[in-house]
Amino acid sequence: MALVKMNSEPVQWRDDFPVFQQKMNGEPLVYLDTASSAQKPRTVIDAMTGVMEGHYANIHRGLYEFSQETTASFEAVRGKVKAFINASSENEIVYTRNTTEAINLVAQSWGRQNLTADDEIILTQLEHHANIVPWQLLQAEIGFRINVVPITDGGTLDLKAFEVFLGPKVKFMGVVHISNALGVKNPVAEMIAQARKACPEIRTLVDGSQSVVHGAIDVQALDCDFFTFTGHKLYGPSGVGVLYGREVLLNTMPPYQGGGDMIETVSFEKGTTFKDAPARFEAGTPAIVDVIGLGAAIGYVSSIGVEALTAHEAELLSYATQKLRSIDGVVIYADIEEKAAVLSFNLEGAHSSDVGMILDQCGVAVRTGHHCAMPLMEALGVESTIRASFGLYNNKDDCDRLYEALIKAKKMLRV
Ligand code: ALA
Repeated sequence: MALVKMNSEPVQWRDDFPVFQQKMNGEPLVYLDTASSAQKPRTVIDAMTGVMEGHYANIHRGLYEFSQETTASFEAVRGKVKAFINASSENEIVYTRNTTEAINLVAQSWGRQNLTADDEIILTQLEHHANIVPWQLLQAEIGFRINVVPITDGGTLDLKAFEVFLGPKVKFMGVVHISNALGVKNPVAEMIAQARKACPEIRTLVDGSQSVVHGAIDVQALDCDFFTFTGHKLYGPSGVGVLYGREVLLNTMPPYQGGGDMIETVSFEKGTTFKDAPARFEAGTPAIVDVIGLGAAIGYVSSIGVEALTAHEAELLSYATQKLRSIDGVVIYADIEEKAAVLSFNLEGAHSSDVGMILDQCGVAVRTGHHCAMPLMEALGVESTIRASFGLYNNKDDCDRLYEALIKAKKMLRV
């Protein structure tokens, strides 16, 4: 890993990422869209190329050396994930395509098996569509009630309103750990503890897509039943995600998809029997190379240390927030201290996509739009925001470039 001092700032990790040798629209790249998907360090790229050039073969299926080697590399990642989120067993780590697939798995397997029309579930106004739509699809068939915890004016969850929803009818709660659209951190451990007291049968799911890269995760301390995250926001490849589930619970759940590698025996006469978790939820050839890339990404982030990473991001967030506050007409959403690496804002009088296009011309990549959180946008009273999100490769120069590009946008759009 290259540790380079840049612009008298603390140690940076930018040189680990080949993408920063590129320009965007002729300008040095300022990548401020890490909440959407993180750039990839050389070590992840090398790990993936290495397996494809070296000992690639399908896993769990071959007695020959290459298959054995690839199987060992693939399975070793389960141990890394287990340690990274402090699960109690590798059997609790199910590989999925991404967070979205992990939540659909829980809805279609656990939800379909356990929820009835008399039940209630709790979601929040801060959820990504990935933790809303799978439950709505199931609700349309089963008919349970969805209670939505609203947000306060500050953009945080209204915990008083949350308490009102608690009771014995509540069988499930799904909460995002850190909002992708605002960066707001939710007190999920406290919410889960409270919910367990008031709702004896409740099962809980934490969407950790953002939090897994902005702080240490301990699923045992959170005391959640399910935790989901995705590889591509963790400096790993897209196409691989993780569902953590308590082992005893996973083994009571029916398979989500059927196919090879998840069965014990298959017979037209006697029917099919299934393996225990995690295999029962991993039908078909998985994303072999991507899982190995995820392992390299976890190794990379661990070698830096989540504390160093979050301290760096917090400094950038604070610096960028100060700069944006100084621009007349910038409205910041959830302008609070307890946030992670996300700055969501609008420029009064300008549409977010017009601003986004001008930023692009200046070499500054941000996301504009509803950020797959339309119910949250509705609560904020806007259609869209401009979102700058930070990763370990960003520095104060990037924040200055964002500021300068916004000043240019203001001039060009005459706002
Ligand atoms: N969930 C991703 C985002 O927040 C795509 O942009």
